[in-house]
Amino acid sequence: MSSLINAALLESAYQLLSQGDVVAFPTETVYGLGANAYDQNAVEKIFKIKGRPAHNPLITHISSRENLTLVTNQEVIDAISPIIDRLAQFIPGPLSLVIPKNQKICSAVSAGLDTVAVRMPDHALAKALLERCPFPVAAPSANPSNYISPTSAEHVNAQLGAQIPLVLDGGPCTVGIESTILDLSQKNPRILRQGVISAEMLAQALDMPVAALLEQTAPQQEALISAPGMLKEHYAPRTPLRVISQPAPAHFPLNTGLITMHSFSELLSCSEFSQRKSLSSNGDLNEICHNLFKTLREFDSLDLDAIYIEACERIGIGRAIMDRIDRASAKWA
Ligand code: TXA
Ligand code: MG
Repeated sequence: MSSLINAALLESAYQLLSQGDVVAFPTETVYGLGANAYDQNAVEKIFKIKGRPAHNPLITHISSRENLTLVTNQEVIDAISPIIDRLAQFIPGPLSLVIPKNQKICSAVSAGLDTVAVRMPDHALAKALLERCPFPVAAPSANPSNYISPTSAEHVNAQLGAQIPLVLDGGPCTVGIESTILDLSQKNPRILRQGVISAEMLAQALDMPVAALLEQTAPQQEALISAPGMLKEHYAPRTPLRVISQPAPAHFPLNTGLITMHSFSELLSCSEFSQRKSLSSNGDLNEICHNLFKTLREFDSLDLDAIYIEACERIGIGRAIMDRIDRASAKWA
């Protein structure tokens, strides 16, 4: 166990989870609000605290590939093993897999579906907590439903702290946006949510075309996977967020903020913005992800009339960045 991990706090977290309570904990993507995935009452607390609709399923977390037995049956594990072998470079990591679930996963976790999304986080504190738990931990992002996901313990405490008995602090999340979700429960693998494990990376690992991974679900299946995580409008700031279209307008209204992708953006020389920030000095897409939610939260606290954000190219990790920006700005588009 890393010396940075406080063993007493970890034990308290485990005790709370095993008693049917909730605990917030860090992962490399965003902070999660966790509960024992076998305990329906505990999982219902997550929905209540977040104000999350019951039809939106949760991601479950385990410490190792061996512990897939906690969420599914051996037949499924045997069937998906060749695919997981190909994905081994991303596991543990910011990749969630949707697979058929076992009977022990309570129905609140899967929102009544017969599948479960499972992930092995690559974060020492999350790993240590999950290793301690003889059950999988269901954990959505630890934010009120529809607000921006938290990337630090301060973010969690600011909004939900009073309702959560323990928030483990593991510092700022390195990745900064939620995991990629890959559906392995259908005939062909398909991406349900973009993340830093990009479609291109998965296509190469799985030896299949990017387009096939990005294929839309058939309408019938879509109705079954009724998951607001995939709806257009999601995690919005309270301040109107607008994407700057090209060519950029000549003038912007007063009392507005500007977020650019990199520090050599021409827009930074525009004097009308009262606040301005670049997500990366050189346009590095991982750095942009790392800073995106943090910066949106920061700008949202400034009482601006609007936040303007630059777009990036929708390719590779850029797809995940624009996915989050599209959802966050959908209300005002
Ligand atoms: O990075 C992450 O994935 C973070 C950290 C805490 O691990 N968790 C996270 O959870 O983003 P959440 O609840 O905010 O997003 C879960 C999304 C749901 O909105 C839904 O779209 C999808 O995962 N999901 C969960 N179970 C599913 C299932 N059985 N079938 C299809 N989609 C599912
Ligand atoms: Mg979320």
